[in-house]
Formats: sequence, structure tokens, C-alpha cells
Amino acid sequence: MKPIPVNAPHVSEAERDAVLECLTSGWLSSEGPQVAELERAFAHATQREFGVAVSSGTAGLDIAIRALGLGPGDEVLLPSLTIISCARAIVESGAKPVPVDCDPTDWNAHLHHFQARVTSRTRAILLVHLYGLCADLDPILSWTKERGLAVVEDASQAQGLLYKDRPCGSFGDISVFSLYANKVVTTGEGGMILCNADALAVRCRSLRNLCFEPARRFRHHDLGWNYRMTALQAALGIPQIRRLPDLASRKRALGEVYHDAFKGTGVFQIAPSSTPYAANAYWVFGLVVRPEAGFSRDELMAALDEERIGTRPFFCGLHEQPALLERHLIDPVSLPITESLARQGLYLPSGLGLSQDDQKRVIGAVKAFVADHS
Ligand SMILES: Cc1ncc(COP(=O)(O)O)c(C=O)c1O
Repeated sequence: MKPIPVNAPHVSEAERDAVLECLTSGWLSSEGPQVAELERAFAHATQREFGVAVSSGTAGLDIAIRALGLGPGDEVLLPSLTIISCARAIVESGAKPVPVDCDPTDWNAHLHHFQARVTSRTRAILLVHLYGLCADLDPILSWTKERGLAVVEDASQAQGLLYKDRPCGSFGDISVFSLYANKVVTTGEGGMILCNADALAVRCRSLRNLCFEPARRFRHHDLGWNYRMTALQAALGIPQIRRLPDLASRKRALGEVYHDAFKGTGVFQIAPSSTPYAANAYWVFGLVVRPEAGFSRDELMAALDEERIGTRPFFCGLHEQPALLERHLIDPVSLPITESLARQGLYLPSGLGLSQDDQKRVIGAVKAFVADHS
């Protein structure tokens, strides 16, 4: 039986041609003009002034948190149900991550979740749009404005997602995208930082490149990272960002097929196809196994694995991460919705390279498992 990977990427002729052309042009490093071209195209597609391409989404978060000047004594609110990169960027700056719970229906952190954990030390929030949906952003953003909190927006899983009529990634003081191979627009490994403030973009570029000083190379007044993106990676991303509307609508179509297949199945909770403010972009298609299902998430994943169908569990909440708890980098708290989603949620193969036949096989395998266990 042919394996079905959890996220098969789709590479077209346009990407092959662009990478070959880059190779032939002799540009390999981050100095190639392809990097600036990808930055411009990404910023344009996201209605932003500036783009700063980096080596990963994790690198982008490190830079974004440092560029905002966050550090010791500061607290940053963020959803607990997210990747460790979000917390480690905050920890690395010396600030403290304060994780919040999320909504059981769309799995995103809403205003009241942030309000529940704000303190006088809160300086910023890190918004993460999860699995292809976002929270209602207007109330959150008017609250952060009122309180003078900076907003970092992690839109890695929200490429092609519109909140009302504006692209996600255009809302934070600074926004970050991962361009890892499972993202809608990918450079294999990579990331993109977007903002509208010139000085912030200059600071991000400096941090990305070891804080080299323009006036005297090899002398440094600050410490940054080598988080540069190569020209080859950028060349791969350029044709894709130009086709983002098309890629996003294909992704949505894949998600709708799953949604129709599982919407009536009482054993699973699934995210809504749309909310009053956004149509689900279905970065991945998640299933949350209800407690009364008669089987566990792990049993379903194991059965699909036997059928050579790749799945992933939902994130493990930051507030339950041993790496943070054991080092006292995060307070032990109870965030019940996050905890149940982390134990009961999984996602199905959702990559743009998933064929219709493979998707039918996935749906058939899940339904057969459910039938055997009910
Ligand atoms: C929401 C979110 N932020 C950040 C990252 C980290 O990105 P990268 O893997 O490119 O470092 C990911 C990775 O999947 C992610 O999903």
C-alpha cells in the first residue's frame, strides 16, 4: 500500500524553472536578488510595507520579539496551543511567556482568554492563528491598543486566510510566517517577517545578519544571528506567492471535502467551515475525538498508521511542556480546553500534493475505523 504523507507538498514547473534559473545565474547565498524579490512579493500579497526573509519561522519569531525590545521583567501573552518556537523566542529575550486557553469550537485564543491572564507586567501579545482559522481580531486589537500592548502576529498557519477582507499577517505591529515545507507557500525551510515601520524592518534586517554595522564591517554594537535565507530558497517561493490565491483556494477545496465527509459524524468535533469573520483556510484538517466516541485519538492514529496514512497529534500546550516547567520558565496553570484538545485532537493528510484518490482513501479509512468501534 502506498504511504500517504501527512503533508505532501506540490511543486509545479514554475518552481522547478525558478530554482534552476537561480542555480544557473550563480546566486546561491542570501545576497542574490531573489531574496529581495520574494520579500517584496510577500509584503505586497499581505498588504504590508516591508518583508524580511529569514531561515525559518522560529528565527522570525526570535527576531520579532527582540526587535520589539521585549526583555527581562516583561510578560507576553500567547495561546498555549501552539508550537514551542513561540515560547522559546520569548524566553530567549528574557521575557516571560504567559500562555492562555482557547475556544473549544475554533481552537483559537479569543479576547477573554487574553484578558484572563493580563497583569501590570504584560507588554505584548503573540497572536497565533491555528490550523487555518483565526479568532475575532477586532476586539483583541482594540483592547491591545487601549492597553498599549505590542502585537506579534504569527500567521504561519494562516496563509491565504482573510479576517473580514484583510489578509492575516497584516494585523500585528510585526508578523511572522513559517515557510516550512508543509506551509501553503514554502521555501523548504524558511520564514518571513512583515511590518509597516521602516525602523522595525531595519532592526530586523540587522538582527538577521549578525548586526553587522554598515559603517565598519566586522564591528558590532549588538549581537544578532545568522538567520539569512538563501537565494535558492527565495527562488522557490517567488512563483508560489504569486499564485497564493490559487493555492489557497485549492487548500480550501481539500478542507471542504473533509468537512463534508465528517460534519455529521457525532464522534468528532471539527472546526467550522466559516465564522462570521473568516472562511476556514484549512491549513490542516483537524479531528477532535469526542470523549464518548468509544476510542481514543491515539488508537485512531495507530490504525491509520497501519494503513500507511500519516497523521499528527495537535500541539501539546506550552503550559504542559517539560522544557518550560522544569526550568520554571512558565507558571503551572490549568487550561482545560487546551489540555483536552492536546489529548484528543489530530490532523489528517492536508498537503497540496494530496490527490483526490488519496483523500478518498483517508476518509474511507477513518470511516471504517469508526464503524468498527461503534
Ligand atoms: C504557528 C507556527 N509558528 C512557528 C512555526 C515554526 O516555524 P519553522 O518550522 O519554520 O521554524 C510553526 C511551524 O510549523 C508554526 O506552525
